[in-house]
Amino acid sequence: MVLNSELSGASFVEAAFMAMNLLPLVFILQFCLVASLYHPLDPLSPNEIDRIRLIIQNSSLGNLPNLTFHFVDLEEPLKTRRTIISDRLYSGHGYPPLTFIELFRASKLPLKYPKFIESIMKRGLNSSQVSCVPFTVGWYGQNVTKRALRIACFYRGRSVNVFARPIEGISMLVDVDSMQITMYTDRLKAPLPKAEGTDFRSKKQPQSIAYNVSDSGFAVDGHRVRWANWDFHVAFDARAGITISTASIFDAQVKRFRRVLYKGHVSETFVPYMDPTNDWYFRTFMDIGEFGFGRSADTLQPQVDCPANAFYLDGYVTGADGKAQKMPHVICIFERYSGDVAWRHTEINVPGKVIRSGEPEISLVVRMVATVGNYDYVLDWEFKKSGSIKVGVDLTGILEMKATSYTNNYQITEETLTLTATATHSSKQNKRRQEYQRFKPTPREKVTGRSSGKLPKLKPRARIHLGLEPADLLITNPNKKTRLGNQVGYRLIAGQPVNSLLSDDDYPQIRNAYTKYQVWVTAYNKSERWAGGFYADRNRGEEGLAVWTRRNRAIENKDIVLWYIVGFHHIPYQEDFPVMPTLHGGFEIRPASFFESNPLLRQE
Ligand SMILES: *[C@@H]1O[C@H](CO)[C@@H](O)[C@H](O)[C@H]1NC(C)=O
Ligand SMILES: *[C@@H]1O[C@H](CO)[C@@H](O)[C@H](O)[C@H]1NC(C)=O
Ligand SMILES: *[C@@H]1O[C@H](CO)[C@@H](O)[C@H](O)[C@H]1NC(C)=O
Ligand SMILES: *[C@@H]1O[C@H](CO)[C@@H](O)[C@H](O)[C@H]1NC(C)=O
Ligand SMILES: *[C@@H]1O[C@H](CO)[C@@H](O)[C@H](O)[C@H]1NC(C)=O
Ligand SMILES: *[C@@H]1O[C@H](CO)[C@@H](O)[C@H](O)[C@H]1NC(C)=O
Repeated sequence: MVLNSELSGASFVEAAFMAMNLLPLVFILQFCLVASLYHPLDPLSPNEIDRIRLIIQNSSLGNLPNLTFHFVDLEEPLKTRRTIISDRLYSGHGYPPLTFIELFRASKLPLKYPKFIESIMKRGLNSSQVSCVPFTVGWYGQNVTKRALRIACFYRGRSVNVFARPIEGISMLVDVDSMQITMYTDRLKAPLPKAEGTDFRSKKQPQSIAYNVSDSGFAVDGHRVRWANWDFHVAFDARAGITISTASIFDAQVKRFRRVLYKGHVSETFVPYMDPTNDWYFRTFMDIGEFGFGRSADTLQPQVDCPANAFYLDGYVTGADGKAQKMPHVICIFERYSGDVAWRHTEINVPGKVIRSGEPEISLVVRMVATVGNYDYVLDWEFKKSGSIKVGVDLTGILEMKATSYTNNYQITEETLTLTATATHSSKQNKRRQEYQRFKPTPREKVTGRSSGKLPKLKPRARIHLGLEPADLLITNPNKKTRLGNQVGYRLIAGQPVNSLLSDDDYPQIRNAYTKYQVWVTAYNKSERWAGGFYADRNRGEEGLAVWTRRNRAIENKDIVLWYIVGFHHIPYQEDFPVMPTLHGGFEIRPASFFESNPLLRQE
């Protein structure tokens, strides 16, 4: 549906709605908002979010029972007035992101469910110490007709590390629309891990440092940021989190700004746990499409999440009731004095002289943190005066742990299992390893629908090729050349190459087929933004980057989108317990004959 109003801001709004207790119908609505004083790529203001809700409620949709707002987002610009200009009823597979109200309600169901209370009592536990966490369920080949969640429960009792004390053996399925538990099994098996040693709270208090942000060398005007030779726009999106757009760099040689990046943001994350057993196989999360990085964004802690010289921005998202919800201090912007060298040289071949020169590296960072369940993602967009943009993805937080009866590695029969908690604990993390011996007689596919579960055993090797084939990944404009005749371009400097370990026919892999290549290039199309499909929850992989690419559109001398897959094989080690030291990944895009010469020497 496209609607028109005299709201400030600009652009279309795309929204996914559901009317509960009906067929789970999903609408895409596009509103056209009239351009005004604001930047056309600004996020929706709280006023605009609230106005959108009023417009919807005033339309024929307003009569639907339990109308829930799952996702409201800006589309690319176009202009009309105060009318719905198109609508589309989505009838394909997959659902929009779960709302936080749904997740919260689902998490409260077990403690009102008699069979669960009985299971807790049977284990001799106190139900007031139980925390339950909802998990998305994925799709494993069945005919999905309903939105569903699995619930896993944990025992706090003297520990704040909820994820360290899973209550194993209980499986619960929730029908999200009726908000009821529709499947419950208890196969009491593993003991509860101990609370001792699980606390991760920091004893150190951050030091308060007096610092005037106004002393920083950057200016923030609304959502526009200017720093050194850069000028760009920052927005906050419920699904993607930080969105960088219209990034331009000043070229001192030609005395004007030159465009580098139209738009950049995270498109999807895929977190497949490699345990095919009954209570674990479905943990194959799509954190962006099922939950949303923006909606999972944290209020940043000064001098922990961002340094003392940081400037903070608030974000706004649409609540399930359609009202604007403020998320304070979800983005920070700061200058980074890394202590690194931006460039240097010592020249001893000039007679009678030693010439030393160089410059320190100073960059500008735009950061957010998303906590999705147990995991915390730190996302950085770092701008360098050299023209590079580095995107950093840091992983930290708590591992998802599985309780077992093992207390020492020698008790484990499976070859690739690692016991990650200390010997005094019976908990262990269980990602990416072989299936249990005792599950072998049962065909995996029947139990869980997963076909991936085993890792090949590798022999010790003294020399290893790490996929270092010579490749310069260049994006060039054939219509524009430097004075020396080189096509102007940027190049992609990839991070560690990582490939999905799932077999191609494993259902979660079908839904996240884009993870089989590290780099993709598509012709720009404004409706192709979400690599795992717009309706990610329980979808069947019928939409998404890998599918779009099959159309084989021309990409040479076209407006293109570059997709880069940042990957981690997170095999847990003991140091990741009870909380994980940050693991870094990312990539860089860097000028490649974009400038006539080193731009660092051309700034005044
Ligand atoms: C709701 O609809 C009525 C009738 O079409 C109109 O008069 C009114 O201005 C609308 N209100 C809003 C908030 O759009
Ligand atoms: C749905 O709406 C009905 C009628 O207004 C209300 O009784 C019910 O509690 C609502 N259900 C949910 C899940 O909000
Ligand atoms: C359970 O825990 C609550 C709160 O910690 C406490 O008040 C209550 O007495 C406990 N119940 C039992 C049976 O131990
Ligand atoms: C799913 O539904 C289709 C069409 O209704 C049917 O042909 C197919 O057999 C069903 N598959 C399963 C696994 O139930
Ligand atoms: C911050 O700026 C104010 C006003 O310019 C000044 O009085 C104050 O001393 C500054 N503080 C620091 C730590 O530089
Ligand atoms: C844009 O993408 C959508 C979704 O993949 C597709 O349906 C549409 O045909 C595309 N448009 C063009 C011009 O390729």
